[in-house]
Amino acid sequence: TYKLAVAGGGSTYTPGIIRSLMDRLEDLPLSEIRFYDIDGERQSKVVVAAKAVIAEYTDTIQVVETTDPKTAFEDVDFVFAQMRVGKYAMRELDEKIPLSHNVVGQETCGPGGLAYGLRTIFPMVELVDYVDQYAKKNAWIVNYSNPASIVAEGVRKLRPNARILNICDMPVATMRNMAAILGVNREDLVVDYFGLNHFGWFTKVEVNGVDRLSELREHVYQHGLLTEDVSKIDYRHADSSWIKTFKNIKLIMDHFPEYLPNPYLQYYLFPDYIVETSNKEYTRANEVMDGREKTLFETVRKYEETGILEDAFAVGVHGTFIVDVTISLAQNLGRRYLVMLENNGTIPNLPADAMIEVPALITSNGPIPEYVGEIPYFYKAMIDQQLASEKILVEAITEGSYIKALQAFTLNKTIPSAKVAKAVLDDLIEANKEYWPTL
Ligand code: G6P
Ligand code: MN
Repeated sequence: TYKLAVAGGGSTYTPGIIRSLMDRLEDLPLSEIRFYDIDGERQSKVVVAAKAVIAEYTDTIQVVETTDPKTAFEDVDFVFAQMRVGKYAMRELDEKIPLSHNVVGQETCGPGGLAYGLRTIFPMVELVDYVDQYAKKNAWIVNYSNPASIVAEGVRKLRPNARILNICDMPVATMRNMAAILGVNREDLVVDYFGLNHFGWFTKVEVNGVDRLSELREHVYQHGLLTEDVSKIDYRHADSSWIKTFKNIKLIMDHFPEYLPNPYLQYYLFPDYIVETSNKEYTRANEVMDGREKTLFETVRKYEETGILEDAFAVGVHGTFIVDVTISLAQNLGRRYLVMLENNGTIPNLPADAMIEVPALITSNGPIPEYVGEIPYFYKAMIDQQLASEKILVEAITEGSYIKALQAFTLNKTIPSAKVAKAVLDDLIEANKEYWPTL
């Protein structure tokens, strides 16, 4: 049996992840779950829900709730990392400050993502150090913390030997939509994919050895990456902003029909259209605070009053995926998933030290990438530019360099000029005073 810690236990995602773990106890038997968060008050509410979920399945798992790193990580085998530095209040600013300059306002893409990166790199490195200090020698961190691309680069650079697997559920969520469109199971899809996190393309989609990409393309031209029956999409992606995001894929396919894009590419390819169609006063952060956040804390309040857990915390792709990957790590199954890893020649015409997102076999010693080969110039050029923005941002924070931060912003494809880059950066510096090191 294993001991597992959840870092960022106060996340609204926690109960869903716990249900997913409970559904898979046969494959990943657990003796202990430790919830760790720097905000103990918030975490204790979420843990009420998590405990109620666990109690539906078993009474043999010891549950620990703590704000102390030693208590959290001592002797654990796995750490699920899902920190959100600055919580939704800062996500709201990441989205609204750029929009006030007519620039894309998004949690991980564009200036919002760069700002979030500057908040998250050092706390992530601190977490890696705690795990190194207290956890079992072979412990793995499975990391969902965003902005994943920048976090992956920061940890690669500052803690190159960390046993951390950086993952994202967007590729697998996209596959879920593809499977619904094709009327097959997600597990039956075999895909090829290359790129950076939130910046990649599906180049092959096969079912039982048959290429279905052109069929998908036809559907996407008409309806976006959606089925009419949105209930096939899990509850989170049925929110109106996610529906819009999946519809917008039409736009990308209209211009570049070659491959199927990761939905996040819309922010880099059509920033003008995204800004025009954004509500500057009410962004995704507001939707989450008014929806997912409220629902969870309401559910906990009612449960404490009545003993009835109203919302069942359905497991979406997000919960399933992290547990799938962890089972493959734990049991050395070598299952094939899309994850982030250091390039080292997997895509020979990208830098060896780029953190790329590609298919890999997940073993106990980490991911073994499948060779991708050289990618066409257009995609390489886009990736190189985005990579430069992210790498220079990590240098900016490690060197405390304002000029490098400005370079990172200027290189980001969502930002139209150095003038706008400076204006947005300066506003974000002001807003992030409590979080960013001095630049
Ligand atoms: C997807 C992405 C995550 C991102 C999340 C935001 O799952 O892969 O990186 O954090 O969407 O979802 P939300 O529901 O919070 O807007
Ligand atoms: Mn992601």
